[in-house]
Amino acid sequence: MAKVIVFCVALMPLIWLVTDVVLGRIGPDPGQEITERLGIAAFQLLLVTLLITPLKKMTGWPGWLRHRRMLGLFAFFYAVLHVLAFLQLILGWGDLWATFTRRPYIALGAVAFLLMIPLALTSTKAMMKRMGRRWKPVHRLIYLSAIFAWLHFLWQARSDVTEMVVYGLLLLALLFIRAYWFGVSSLVPLRKSRA
Ligand code: HEM
Repeated sequence: MAKVIVFCVALMPLIWLVTDVVLGRIGPDPGQEITERLGIAAFQLLLVTLLITPLKKMTGWPGWLRHRRMLGLFAFFYAVLHVLAFLQLILGWGDLWATFTRRPYIALGAVAFLLMIPLALTSTKAMMKRMGRRWKPVHRLIYLSAIFAWLHFLWQARSDVTEMVVYGLLLLALLFIRAYWFGVSSLVPLRKSRA
């Protein structure tokens, strides 16, 4: 039951967006609004995914971990939709290399996205088993991806950066808690795990 609730909540940003598009409540620049909303959903879900381990540690309840994979996959799902919306509704499918290197903030987003791909591909139980001890260090790429996604978020800001700073502080807090509890090595991919 809890899984169904988490699934429905994670799907809400998409349902909301589709409803607004259908009802024509999407503002004067639909392409930009759709891309932005999908980007923010991807980033928020990335942060929620990062919150799971601290929650487990704070509450002592291992049940949190059951939702981590789904939340991480939803973050990736929204990131895919975000990139597709950007290509389809803003810049087109022309020269992709030129598109992704066009501006620093887009390149940062592309790095964040590329880092999410191995995580999504190795998120199944079978892959977890196959990779054994290597799975955890590889999945620490999520921290790097979140940092790049935040830099991308900050860089694309036009004037007011309050929202970005608040998200940045949240991310910093999550990284700090992790480093404090498990040691700085737990943030570094491909190092022996202590967590
Ligand atoms: C190839 C990868 C990516 C591209 C090309 C891309 C492109 C963009 C563009 C063009 C915008 C600005 C839209 C506008 O206001 O005109 C944007 C905003 C944003 N993107 Fe990305 N992005 C990428 C990856 C990501 C990833 C992986 C995340 C998060 C996990 C992300 C999160 C965001 C956020 C949070 C915003 C700001 C939304 C807002 O202003 O409310 N992006 N992205």
